[in-house]
Amino acid sequence: MSSSSPRAASRRDSFVAFEHVQKSYDGETLVVEDFNLTIERGEFLTLLGPSGSGKTTCLLMLAGFEVPSAGQIRLADKVLDNIPPHQREIGLVFQNYALFPHMTVAENLAFPLKVRKFDKSAIARKVNDTLAMVRLQGFEHRKPNQLSGGQQQRVAVARALIFDPKILLMDEPLCALDKNLRDQMQIEIRELHRTLGITVVYVTHDQSEAMTLSSRIVVFDEGTVQQVAAPSDLYEKPQNAFVAQFVGENNGLQGTVEKTQGKSCHVRLRSGENIEAENVGDNAKGAQVLVSLRPERVQLAANISDLTRCQNKVEGKLREKIFLGDHMRARFFACNKEGFVVNLPNKEGIEHVKVAREGQNMALGWRVEDCRALGLAKRS
Ligand SMILES: Nc1ncnc2c1ncn2[C@@H]1O[C@H](COP(=O)(O)OP(=O)(O)O)[C@@H](O)[C@H]1O
Ligand SMILES: [Mg+2]
Repeated sequence: MSSSSPRAASRRDSFVAFEHVQKSYDGETLVVEDFNLTIERGEFLTLLGPSGSGKTTCLLMLAGFEVPSAGQIRLADKVLDNIPPHQREIGLVFQNYALFPHMTVAENLAFPLKVRKFDKSAIARKVNDTLAMVRLQGFEHRKPNQLSGGQQQRVAVARALIFDPKILLMDEPLCALDKNLRDQMQIEIRELHRTLGITVVYVTHDQSEAMTLSSRIVVFDEGTVQQVAAPSDLYEKPQNAFVAQFVGENNGLQGTVEKTQGKSCHVRLRSGENIEAENVGDNAKGAQVLVSLRPERVQLAANISDLTRCQNKVEGKLREKIFLGDHMRARFFACNKEGFVVNLPNKEGIEHVKVAREGQNMALGWRVEDCRALGLAKRS
């Protein structure tokens, strides 16, 4: 094959490659099913999914602590099969891979270098530089229990990076921290990734954390990849019902395709209304679909006839509205659904919503391009 062919190019660009990887712990159930993914050098890639979906298992296989039941993993064009964890040049920050409690910060940082037989002066220099990188100068003689949660996590990150690994793996590193600290650490991790340019594979079940950090997100459910996309595409263009429900807030309306028409389709909702939606993945007439509609895409009016720009119009009863400063959040009973949510930016033109009373009927409208008819999640 010539080196200019697309296949050769993609091989060259991929830094990590999972190829038809499967994993079963008991020899019967697959907890990871035919996982295929290439990761580019310098990417911040996140595995996102509910608890038990197989994220940690994938990371452990890359790190070398678990062996795939089938398929193979490459790192920098080397097949990892028989390479033990400590020779993979991978930095790890795992939830249950805590700091050594009896060692000082400096000793914790020196540990990976001692294992790799660095000499004393190189260790001292590296420990110093790395402490500066995570802004912990002056803390070198403290023990982990003399540090805050955020500081401990920074030491853990520093320890994972100190030997210049090829790649950094992080498994829910922030989940033990409180919300404010988590937000701050997310910013620090982003900065670190930006300045070092290192490839990061990150695991979380928290979709907003995944959106904040990642260049690409892999959505997992039950060991199967549901979608791989940049954060904005995942939100704007979910490919199936699972992704639409898992990433971001969503009004999910169940129905049946009545007629397809180019890129859109007519759906009869279970609640009886007929609407038109983008047809994602070519759902055929008769297919059961979930119509996904983001709360900020819905327009409100006093009467159906006022919604001139919307192809889709339904009536709803206002249950509750909450003023949140930058936006107004209204909850309706609509399409036979309690909790039909509408978010409106606080700007001119929403006066009629501000004065609307709870219990009042209102008109809800949205355009065809604002809702997506989606098939169910991928299952094997
Ligand atoms: N060491 C193990 N032995 C047996 N089953 C395991 C083991 N580790 C994980 N599992 C099972 O594999 C599935 C995926 O787990 P895991 O990869 O930890 O998911 P996640 O990280 O997405 O929460 C779960 O059903 C879990 O119970
Ligand atoms: Mg896990």
